[in-house]
Amino acid sequence: MSQPTSTRIDGLVEVTLTEESLPQILALDTWAFPSPVPASDQLAWPWPLDPQRSRALAEPGSDTLAAMHGSYAYSTFPVPGATTAVAGLTAVGVHPQYRGRGLLRSMITTHFADCRARGEVASVLFASQPAIYGRFGYGLASRTAAVTIKHHAALRPVAGSDAITVTFEEFDFDAHAAIVAGLHARAAGRNINTPGWATRETPRLRAHFHADPAELREGFEKWRIMVAFREDDPVGYALFRRKFRWAEAGPEGPVELQEYAATDPAVVHALWTRLLDLELTSTVQAHWIGLDDPLLTLLVDPRAATPRIIDNLWLRLIDAPEALRRRRYAAAVDLTIELTDDMLTSNAGRWRLRADPFSANVEVTVSDTAEVSMDVRTLGSLYLGGFSASALASAGLIEGAAESVAALSSAFGWPRLPVCSWVF
Ligand SMILES: CC(C)(COP(=O)(O)OP(=O)(O)OC[C@H]1O[C@@H](n2cnc3c(N)ncnc32)[C@H](O)[C@@H]1OP(=O)(O)O)[C@@H](O)C(=O)NCCC(=O)NCCS
Repeated sequence: MSQPTSTRIDGLVEVTLTEESLPQILALDTWAFPSPVPASDQLAWPWPLDPQRSRALAEPGSDTLAAMHGSYAYSTFPVPGATTAVAGLTAVGVHPQYRGRGLLRSMITTHFADCRARGEVASVLFASQPAIYGRFGYGLASRTAAVTIKHHAALRPVAGSDAITVTFEEFDFDAHAAIVAGLHARAAGRNINTPGWATRETPRLRAHFHADPAELREGFEKWRIMVAFREDDPVGYALFRRKFRWAEAGPEGPVELQEYAATDPAVVHALWTRLLDLELTSTVQAHWIGLDDPLLTLLVDPRAATPRIIDNLWLRLIDAPEALRRRRYAAAVDLTIELTDDMLTSNAGRWRLRADPFSANVEVTVSDTAEVSMDVRTLGSLYLGGFSASALASAGLIEGAAESVAALSSAFGWPRLPVCSWVF
């Protein structure tokens, strides 16, 4: 670690992290997030964060970090109909000895200022503890279904599935990482895109995502990959692994799906048919299935998925008017919105939003009046199209005449529900 800078927070100083800081970072990380693998044994694992986007606090002169956070630069994060720069907040941790002294609050304040300086209009995260982030203006922006599907669950037929060929291989970074990255980006779509579908933009992040430390396998085999081809073109993949378990009545082991991506319905069908047909397994488990994922429509018996709805991305608007300009709207809209924001007061005020449907013709201007009102946290839930304004209004989170709320619902909705396919 380099010399402390002068910023003082509760007797702590900010330290500059470098590539050499990994032992200290991992020491704190394993205090914040208990791990069966000691920090010293994790040094060889790929660390995903850029030190320049990581910040830490420590006692003056101490090598022990008291708190840290970092973020990913998502320069092309999908928002409805477009992409924009956002930050992916991660590795937020406070050493147990320093908890309850406001360090998280101070780090969040710093993070917002950093986002603002970098021109990132929003911050997104996965929450280890969902109750934490609402107070900082993060709204739940997307949800997923965690599914456990029985072996051989039937799927409705899809034309063209038979023409897809699928290879089965052990995952090999050099052979497969580029195929995965390319297909994952394609699966986001272009104009009618999937909001929230963050891509792993840096080599560090791709190395981290594909790392497969033996210590974390918990009886599973190494990651394997199915790659789907139409003629010679790769059109989809499924990253999966199996655990072998034998019960009295036969095999009971699960298949765990890390991620799948498919460029069209026939590919979805071809991949899932094979996942559900792996010999000597009893279920397929997947955590991050979007609520409108075609799999849930293709299952003949939807209950076969035993879905459990879980929170996916949380989103905090850093520059609300600019963020509103960056997305597209599914219906024509001309509405005035009163926004409250205790932490970032430049967001607070009355804004007039005018937009043509599915168009870059979007205007956000200051207004004197307001037809609907909400807090920035609620706008974070609306922003990617994962919650309807009517649903939020019926929970008391948006106020306004029913017609205005209905207009807001139509405009902020999106043909594809938001989802991020992997945890960062
Ligand atoms: C969660 C954690 C970062 C909190 O750090 P901290 O410095 O103790 O938090 P602060 O003292 O700044 O508290 C800030 C606010 O968050 C609240 N808070 C803190 N921990 C919380 C928790 N686990 N659940 C809900 N609220 C929590 C505090 O009550 C406080 O609320 P207030 O400002 O409205 O009074 C820390 O306990 C930690 O590292 N936990 C383990 C790792 C983790 O879960 N990290 C989050 C990753 S997404």
